Formats: sequence, C-alpha cells, structure tokens
Amino acid sequence: MPTTTAHSSAALPLPGHLPPDLAGRLAAAVAIACEVGDYIQSQVGQVVSVESKSSVVDLVTNVDKEADKRIGTYLRNQFPDDTLITEETFQEGVTALSTERAWVVDPIDGTTSFAHGFPYYSVSIAWLDEGVAKLGVVYDPCRNECFYAVRGSGAWLNGQPLCVTKTTTLQASLWATGFPYSTDTATFEEQMQVVKTVLQHTHGIRRLGSAALDLVYVACGRLDGFWEYTLSPWDIAAGALIVEEAGGQTSNLDGVALRLDDRLITILASNGLLHQPFITLYHNGLA
Ligand code: IPD
Ligand code: CA
Ligand code: CA
Repeated sequence: MPTTTAHSSAALPLPGHLPPDLAGRLAAAVAIACEVGDYIQSQVGQVVSVESKSSVVDLVTNVDKEADKRIGTYLRNQFPDDTLITEETFQEGVTALSTERAWVVDPIDGTTSFAHGFPYYSVSIAWLDEGVAKLGVVYDPCRNECFYAVRGSGAWLNGQPLCVTKTTTLQASLWATGFPYSTDTATFEEQMQVVKTVLQHTHGIRRLGSAALDLVYVACGRLDGFWEYTLSPWDIAAGALIVEEAGGQTSNLDGVALRLDDRLITILASNGLLHQPFITLYHNGLA
C-alpha cells in the first residue's frame, strides 16, 4: 500500500514496498525537492543577483545558491554518511564523481528560464550507489508536478505510474533538445546539423530549458525523445532513471550506456522503440 509524505501542496503517495533504506531516502528526496521547489517559486520576480559561470549565458542566481544550500544541509543532516555532490558546491578537479552512496543535486535545472520568469525549471535529486542511480526525483514547482522513480520498482508522477509513448515512427515523433552555452566550437556546428536533420524527419523539436524536465516529459509520454550534448551528471542523473523506469531507454548517441561519473555527458533518451532509428538518423545526418 502506498504511504504518504509531507508535501507543501498535497499529500503525495509513495510506493510502500521498498527496502527501508530506499524508502527513507525517497521520502526525504521528495520532501526536500517539493519544499525547496516552493521556495524557488516564491522567489519568481524577486531575484536579487544574477552572475555568469562558464560563459555569459551560463547563469547562477542567489536563489540557485540558497536552494543548493537548503537541499545540501537537509541531506547532510539526514544522511551524514552519504557523499553529497551539488552543482553549486562542485569544484572542478576536486570533487570526485565516482563515490559510493552519493546524492547528486541540481537545485534549479533551468536557471535561464527561472531568471526570465519562463515557467519551465525543476529541482533534480538523485541517489547513486556505486555510480548507479537507485532513485531519482524531479520536481516542477510551476505545475506542482513531482516525478520520481526507484530502480526496479517503477516511476510515478504525483503517485500515478508513468509510461513512455508507443510511437513507432520518427515521422510521428516529438523531440526536445538543448543547446550548449558555447557556440564557437566544431561540436556546435555538428549540433546544428543534427537539429536540421531531426526537423526534416519528425513532427518537430522543442527547446524548453531544463534537461531534467525534458527527460521526465519523455517518461510521461509528453515527448517521444530527448537528446543533448555535454550535460553534467546533476542534469540527468534523476531524469534518466525516471525514463528507464517508465519503460524508455537511455544511452549516448552511439547507443553506449551512460556513465554518471563522466564529467560531460551526451544523452539520448527515448521511448525505446525510436532509440535505434534516432541513432541511425543522427549518423546519417552527419555523414
Ligand atoms: C541547464 C539546463 C538546460 C541545458 C543546459 C543545462 P542549468 O542546466 O538543463 O536545459 O540545455 O545544458 O546546463 O544550468 O539551468 O542548471
Ligand atoms: Ca542543470
Ligand atoms: Ca542548475
């Protein structure tokens, strides 16, 4: 039987058949994602500082930093023996990505959208055991939608089981992607070529601005697939698991399994049926 946990807006049913360590971590991750998501929502239009990180279009706000701090403090208090990897405390060359029992946190995935008041951003929290995501939570505070999954147990949206689409042809499929912060690279030209090819062979592409939400939109059937180059582990750790548990497939663009301890990750997520057709289209488009 499902149990419920505190949610700022509604009681959220969680699966009741999980081992205690996973059940406790899932309840904690859902609770803090929703709580901090509601804090983020309370700050729309009240951002006091916007800074640049890797480039002028890679933004971080005071709300990202505060959200990161709140999630980190909560998880550290609840699970002091777990490693904590958060986007805003991550230090290149210092933070180890391959550790046992680690939380991987993106406090706001979709900062550019958030900073502009465009309602498509999320809180993403995953828990990994030896590099494998065991549970993932993606919370959309704009729509009060909480997506979560536990490896081997399924995926849910506010308590309802998730399932990917059954679309069998690329021509009838809808995709999302994202664009890199850096546009002066050879990879960027390649990415534009892929966009052109996909536009010519599908119902279209959406660029919405949160990789974590794009992934869970694949999981719940609002999209048939999503791909993006050079993402970070915290962008995809939770969402990729949710796709897999909803019956979909994830890999890189060559069909090779993802490694969450890679610093930069290129991801393809789909309903499974379109996975190989998309890989073939991608390679043909670049030939
Ligand atoms: C970004 C979002 C965006 C993707 C970028 C990410 P951030 O995360 O996921 O959709 O295109 O590559 O960096 O910076 O808003 O946490
Ligand atoms: Ca992100
Ligand atoms: Ca972020």
